Amino acid sequence: MLHVENVTKIFGQTAAVDNASFTIDRPAMVGIIGRSGAGKSTFLRMMNRLTDATSGRLMFNGTDILQLKGRDKRAWQSQCAMIFQQFNLVPRMDVVSNVLHGLLNRRGTLPTLFNMWPAADIHRAIDILDRLGIAEQAAKRAEALSGGQQQRVAIARALMQDPQVILADEPIASLDPMNAQVVMDALRRIHEEDGRTIIANLHTLDTARRYCDRVIGMRAGRIVFDGTPDQLTTSVAREIYGAGAEFREEATSTSIAALQSNDAQNRTFAGSMLSD
Ligand SMILES: Nc1ncnc2c1ncn2[C@@H]1O[C@H](COP(=O)(O)OP(=O)(O)OP(=O)(O)O)[C@@H](O)[C@H]1O
Ligand SMILES: [Mg+2]
Repeated sequence: MLHVENVTKIFGQTAAVDNASFTIDRPAMVGIIGRSGAGKSTFLRMMNRLTDATSGRLMFNGTDILQLKGRDKRAWQSQCAMIFQQFNLVPRMDVVSNVLHGLLNRRGTLPTLFNMWPAADIHRAIDILDRLGIAEQAAKRAEALSGGQQQRVAIARALMQDPQVILADEPIASLDPMNAQVVMDALRRIHEEDGRTIIANLHTLDTARRYCDRVIGMRAGRIVFDGTPDQLTTSVAREIYGAGAEFREEATSTSIAALQSNDAQNRTFAGSMLSD
Protein backbone atom coordinates (compact mmCIF):
# COMPACT_ATOMS: atom_id res chain seq x y z
CA MET A 1 0.00 0.00 0.00
CA LEU A 2 2.62 2.52 1.12
CA HIS A 3 6.24 1.96 0.33
CA VAL A 4 8.78 4.55 1.51
CA GLU A 5 12.14 4.10 -0.17
CA ASN A 6 15.28 6.02 0.83
CA VAL A 7 13.41 9.27 1.32
CA THR A 8 15.81 12.09 2.18
CA LYS A 9 15.40 15.79 2.89
CA ILE A 10 18.46 18.00 3.14
CA PHE A 11 18.28 21.53 4.58
CA GLY A 12 21.66 23.21 3.99
CA GLN A 13 24.13 20.90 5.75
CA THR A 14 21.50 18.98 7.70
CA ALA A 15 19.78 15.79 6.62
CA ALA A 16 16.44 16.37 8.35
CA VAL A 17 15.29 12.99 7.03
CA ASP A 18 18.08 10.61 6.09
CA ASN A 19 17.32 7.64 3.82
CA ALA A 20 14.05 6.70 5.49
CA SER A 21 12.54 3.43 4.29
CA PHE A 22 9.55 1.42 5.50
CA THR A 23 6.45 -0.29 4.16
CA ILE A 24 2.86 -0.28 5.36
CA ASP A 25 1.08 -3.13 3.64
CA ARG A 26 -2.38 -2.81 5.15
CA PRO A 27 -4.31 -0.04 6.92
CA ALA A 28 -2.61 0.64 10.25
CA MET A 29 -2.24 3.15 13.02
CA VAL A 30 1.42 4.09 13.11
CA GLY A 31 3.14 6.36 15.63
CA ILE A 32 6.38 8.19 14.92
CA ILE A 33 8.44 9.10 17.96
CA GLY A 34 11.78 10.77 18.50
CA ARG A 35 13.26 13.77 20.20
CA SER A 36 12.85 17.33 18.99
CA GLY A 37 14.54 17.84 15.61
CA ALA A 38 14.56 14.11 14.73
CA GLY A 39 12.76 14.78 11.44
CA LYS A 40 9.20 13.69 12.30
CA SER A 41 7.40 16.77 10.95
CA THR A 42 9.63 16.98 7.89
CA PHE A 43 8.71 13.41 7.03
CA LEU A 44 4.96 14.04 7.28
CA ARG A 45 5.30 17.28 5.30
CA MET A 46 7.06 15.45 2.47
CA MET A 47 4.41 12.79 2.48
CA ASN A 48 1.67 15.40 2.16
CA ARG A 49 3.79 17.28 -0.42
CA LEU A 50 3.89 20.43 1.68
CA THR A 51 7.64 20.25 1.19
CA ASP A 52 9.62 18.56 -1.60
CA ALA A 53 11.92 15.64 -0.85
CA THR A 54 15.56 15.89 -1.89
CA SER A 55 15.61 12.27 -3.06
CA GLY A 56 13.86 8.93 -2.69
CA ARG A 57 10.54 7.41 -3.66
CA LEU A 58 7.25 7.29 -1.82
CA MET A 59 5.01 4.77 -3.55
CA PHE A 60 1.32 4.73 -2.69
CA ASN A 61 -0.65 2.00 -4.46
CA GLY A 62 1.94 1.95 -7.23
CA THR A 63 2.30 5.71 -7.80
CA ASP A 64 5.32 7.73 -6.69
CA ILE A 65 3.59 10.57 -4.93
CA LEU A 66 6.83 12.58 -4.74
CA GLN A 67 6.61 13.05 -8.53
CA LEU A 68 3.01 14.30 -8.68
CA LYS A 69 2.34 17.78 -10.02
CA GLY A 70 -0.61 20.17 -10.36
CA ARG A 71 -3.99 18.49 -10.29
CA ASP A 72 -2.57 15.05 -9.43
CA LYS A 73 -0.70 16.51 -6.49
CA ARG A 74 -3.87 18.18 -5.21
CA ALA A 75 -5.78 14.92 -5.64
CA TRP A 76 -3.14 13.21 -3.50
CA GLN A 77 -3.37 15.94 -0.88
CA SER A 78 -7.07 15.26 -0.55
CA GLN A 79 -6.36 11.50 -0.25
CA CYS A 80 -3.90 12.27 2.50
CA ALA A 81 -5.42 14.67 5.03
CA MET A 82 -3.31 16.45 7.60
CA ILE A 83 -3.98 17.43 11.21
CA PHE A 84 -1.73 19.82 13.12
CA GLN A 85 -0.86 20.54 16.73
CA GLN A 86 -2.40 24.02 16.48
CA PHE A 87 -5.59 22.77 14.74
CA ASN A 88 -5.23 25.32 11.86
CA LEU A 89 -8.92 26.22 11.80
CA VAL A 90 -10.28 29.58 10.66
CA PRO A 91 -11.01 30.97 14.16
CA ARG A 92 -13.78 33.42 13.32
CA MET A 93 -15.60 31.08 10.97
CA ASP A 94 -18.32 28.73 12.19
CA VAL A 95 -17.52 25.09 12.85
CA VAL A 96 -19.51 23.59 9.99
CA SER A 97 -17.88 25.93 7.43
CA ASN A 98 -14.48 24.95 8.79
CA VAL A 99 -15.39 21.30 8.20
CA LEU A 100 -16.67 22.05 4.69
CA HIS A 101 -13.30 23.59 3.89
CA GLY A 102 -12.04 20.00 3.76
CA LEU A 103 -13.65 19.94 0.32
CA LEU A 104 -11.61 22.89 -1.00
CA ASN A 105 -9.38 20.65 -3.11
CA ARG A 106 -12.46 19.16 -4.76
CA ARG A 107 -14.97 21.99 -5.03
CA GLY A 108 -12.84 24.97 -6.06
CA THR A 109 -12.93 28.40 -4.50
CA LEU A 110 -16.13 29.95 -5.89
CA PRO A 111 -18.73 28.16 -3.76
CA THR A 112 -16.36 28.50 -0.82
CA LEU A 113 -16.08 32.25 -1.21
CA PHE A 114 -19.82 32.67 -1.09
CA ASN A 115 -20.43 29.86 1.38
CA MET A 116 -22.68 28.19 -1.18
CA TRP A 117 -22.34 24.58 -0.21
CA PRO A 118 -24.68 21.91 -1.57
CA ALA A 119 -27.14 20.71 1.10
CA ALA A 120 -25.75 17.18 0.82
CA ASP A 121 -22.26 18.42 1.77
CA ILE A 122 -23.65 20.32 4.76
CA HIS A 123 -25.52 17.24 5.96
CA ARG A 124 -22.41 15.16 5.62
CA ALA A 125 -20.39 17.70 7.58
CA ILE A 126 -22.92 17.60 10.40
CA ASP A 127 -23.00 13.80 10.38
CA ILE A 128 -19.22 13.76 10.75
CA LEU A 129 -19.38 16.27 13.62
CA ASP A 130 -22.04 14.08 15.21
CA ARG A 131 -19.80 11.04 14.93
CA LEU A 132 -17.11 12.99 16.79
CA GLY A 133 -19.59 14.05 19.46
CA ILE A 134 -19.61 17.78 18.64
CA ALA A 135 -22.63 18.27 16.35
CA GLU A 136 -24.18 20.71 18.84
CA GLN A 137 -21.19 23.03 18.28
CA ALA A 138 -21.80 23.25 14.50
CA ALA A 139 -23.04 26.87 14.42
CA LYS A 140 -20.45 28.30 16.84
CA ARG A 141 -17.31 30.07 15.81
CA ALA A 142 -14.33 27.73 15.93
CA GLU A 143 -12.52 30.05 18.36
CA ALA A 144 -15.31 29.59 20.93
CA LEU A 145 -14.52 25.87 21.33
CA SER A 146 -12.12 24.18 23.73
CA GLY A 147 -8.85 22.85 22.36
CA GLY A 148 -10.11 19.27 22.35
CA GLN A 149 -13.26 20.30 20.50
CA GLN A 150 -11.22 22.32 17.99
CA GLN A 151 -8.99 19.34 17.28
CA ARG A 152 -12.10 17.24 16.69
CA VAL A 153 -13.30 19.89 14.20
CA ALA A 154 -9.93 19.55 12.46
CA ILE A 155 -10.42 15.76 12.35
CA ALA A 156 -13.93 16.31 10.94
CA ARG A 157 -12.46 18.57 8.26
CA ALA A 158 -9.96 15.83 7.42
CA LEU A 159 -12.75 13.21 7.24
CA MET A 160 -14.73 15.46 4.90
CA GLN A 161 -11.99 14.74 2.35
CA ASP A 162 -12.70 11.01 2.77
CA PRO A 163 -8.95 10.38 2.87
CA GLN A 164 -7.23 6.99 2.76
CA VAL A 165 -4.46 8.32 4.96
CA ILE A 166 -4.58 10.80 7.85
CA LEU A 167 -1.30 12.39 8.90
CA ALA A 168 -1.30 13.95 12.35
CA ASP A 169 1.61 16.11 13.51
CA GLU A 170 1.56 16.02 17.33
CA PRO A 171 -2.24 16.15 17.41
CA ILE A 172 -2.45 16.21 21.21
CA ALA A 173 0.63 18.23 22.15
CA SER A 174 -1.48 21.31 23.01
CA LEU A 175 -4.19 19.47 24.91
CA ASP A 176 -4.75 18.56 28.54
CA PRO A 177 -4.72 14.81 29.31
CA MET A 178 -8.48 14.39 29.18
CA ASN A 179 -8.89 16.09 25.82
CA ALA A 180 -5.81 14.29 24.55
CA GLN A 181 -7.51 10.99 25.30
CA VAL A 182 -10.74 12.01 23.56
CA VAL A 183 -8.81 13.01 20.43
CA MET A 184 -6.65 9.85 20.38
CA ASP A 185 -9.74 7.68 20.95
CA ALA A 186 -11.39 9.40 17.96
CA LEU A 187 -8.38 8.75 15.73
CA ARG A 188 -8.19 5.13 16.82
CA ARG A 189 -11.90 4.62 16.12
CA ILE A 190 -11.57 6.20 12.68
CA HIS A 191 -8.77 3.78 11.91
CA GLU A 192 -10.68 0.73 13.16
CA GLU A 193 -14.12 1.54 11.80
CA ASP A 194 -13.15 3.07 8.44
CA GLY A 195 -9.92 1.21 7.74
CA ARG A 196 -8.02 4.44 7.19
CA THR A 197 -4.28 4.50 7.79
CA ILE A 198 -3.21 6.98 10.43
CA ILE A 199 0.37 8.14 10.83
CA ALA A 200 0.83 10.32 13.89
CA ASN A 201 3.91 12.06 15.25
CA LEU A 202 3.58 11.68 18.99
CA HIS A 203 5.60 13.37 21.68
CA THR A 204 4.87 10.90 24.45
CA LEU A 205 5.88 7.30 24.57
CA ASP A 206 2.85 6.07 26.46
CA THR A 207 0.46 7.47 23.81
CA ALA A 208 2.37 5.71 21.04
CA ARG A 209 2.31 2.46 23.01
CA ARG A 210 -1.32 2.68 23.93
CA TYR A 211 -2.86 3.63 20.59
CA CYS A 212 -0.58 2.43 17.81
CA ASP A 213 -0.18 -0.97 16.17
CA ARG A 214 3.28 -0.03 15.13
CA VAL A 215 5.84 2.53 16.23
CA ILE A 216 8.63 4.06 14.16
CA GLY A 217 11.46 5.70 16.07
CA MET A 218 13.53 8.44 14.44
CA ARG A 219 16.84 9.80 15.58
CA ALA A 220 18.75 12.54 13.70
CA GLY A 221 16.74 11.90 10.52
CA ARG A 222 17.18 8.14 10.53
CA ILE A 223 14.69 5.43 11.32
CA VAL A 224 16.30 3.61 14.23
CA PHE A 225 13.32 1.52 15.34
CA ASP A 226 10.33 0.01 13.58
CA GLY A 227 8.25 -2.43 15.57
CA THR A 228 5.29 -3.15 17.80
CA PRO A 229 4.61 -1.41 21.13
CA ASP A 230 5.74 -4.64 22.84
CA GLN A 231 9.15 -4.39 21.22
CA LEU A 232 9.49 -0.79 22.35
CA THR A 233 11.18 -1.52 25.64
CA THR A 234 12.59 1.18 27.93
CA SER A 235 16.12 0.55 26.70
CA VAL A 236 15.02 0.78 23.06
CA ALA A 237 13.21 4.03 23.85
CA ARG A 238 16.33 5.36 25.54
CA GLU A 239 18.27 4.66 22.35
CA ILE A 240 15.67 6.40 20.18
CA TYR A 241 15.66 9.51 22.32
CA GLY A 242 19.41 9.46 22.81
CA ALA A 243 18.85 9.81 26.54
CA GLY A 244 21.00 8.60 29.40
CA ALA A 245 20.25 6.55 32.48
CA GLU A 246 17.88 9.24 33.78
CA PHE A 247 15.37 8.28 31.09
CA ARG A 248 11.98 7.15 32.35
CA GLU A 249 8.85 5.86 30.63
CA GLU A 250 6.90 9.06 31.27
CA ALA A 251 9.41 11.06 29.25
CA THR A 252 8.43 13.18 26.30
CA SER A 253 10.59 14.59 23.54
CA THR A 254 10.02 18.02 25.07
CA SER A 255 11.12 17.06 28.55
CA ILE A 256 14.25 15.37 27.25
CA ALA A 257 15.18 18.39 25.16
CA ALA A 258 14.73 20.57 28.24
CA LEU A 259 16.79 18.21 30.35
CA GLN A 260 19.71 18.20 27.98
CA SER A 261 19.78 21.81 26.87
CA ASN A 262 19.74 23.54 30.20
CA ASP A 263 21.29 21.81 33.14
CA ALA A 264 20.69 22.94 36.70
CA GLN A 265 17.63 25.10 36.22
CA ASN A 266 15.73 22.72 34.02
CA ARG A 267 16.55 19.68 36.08
CA THR A 268 14.05 20.80 38.64
CA PHE A 269 11.45 21.28 35.91
CA ALA A 270 12.22 18.00 34.16
CA GLY A 271 12.44 16.24 37.50
CA SER A 272 8.71 16.55 37.87
CA MET A 273 8.24 14.49 34.71
CA LEU A 274 11.25 12.23 34.96
CA SER A 275 10.80 10.81 38.43
CA ASP A 276 13.73 9.13 40.17
N1 LIG B 1 12.40 24.86 6.81
C1 LIG B 1 13.53 24.43 7.37
N2 LIG B 1 14.73 24.99 7.09
C2 LIG B 1 15.88 24.53 7.63
N3 LIG B 1 15.93 23.51 8.51
C3 LIG B 1 14.80 22.91 8.84
C4 LIG B 1 13.53 23.33 8.30
N4 LIG B 1 12.55 22.53 8.82
C5 LIG B 1 13.19 21.67 9.65
N5 LIG B 1 14.51 21.89 9.67
C6 LIG B 1 15.52 21.12 10.42
O1 LIG B 1 15.31 19.75 10.14
C7 LIG B 1 15.46 18.95 11.31
C8 LIG B 1 14.19 18.16 11.57
O2 LIG B 1 13.15 19.05 11.93
P1 LIG B 1 11.65 18.58 12.20
O3 LIG B 1 10.84 19.78 12.40
O4 LIG B 1 11.24 17.64 11.13
O5 LIG B 1 11.83 17.77 13.56
P2 LIG B 1 10.72 17.15 14.53
O6 LIG B 1 11.12 15.74 14.79
O7 LIG B 1 9.36 17.36 13.95
O8 LIG B 1 10.92 17.99 15.86
P3 LIG B 1 9.83 18.50 16.97
O9 LIG B 1 9.60 17.31 17.89
O10 LIG B 1 10.53 19.61 17.64
O11 LIG B 1 8.59 18.91 16.24
C9 LIG B 1 15.85 19.92 12.41
O12 LIG B 1 17.26 19.93 12.51
C10 LIG B 1 15.33 21.24 11.92
O13 LIG B 1 16.09 22.30 12.45
MG1 LIG C 1 7.70 18.40 14.62
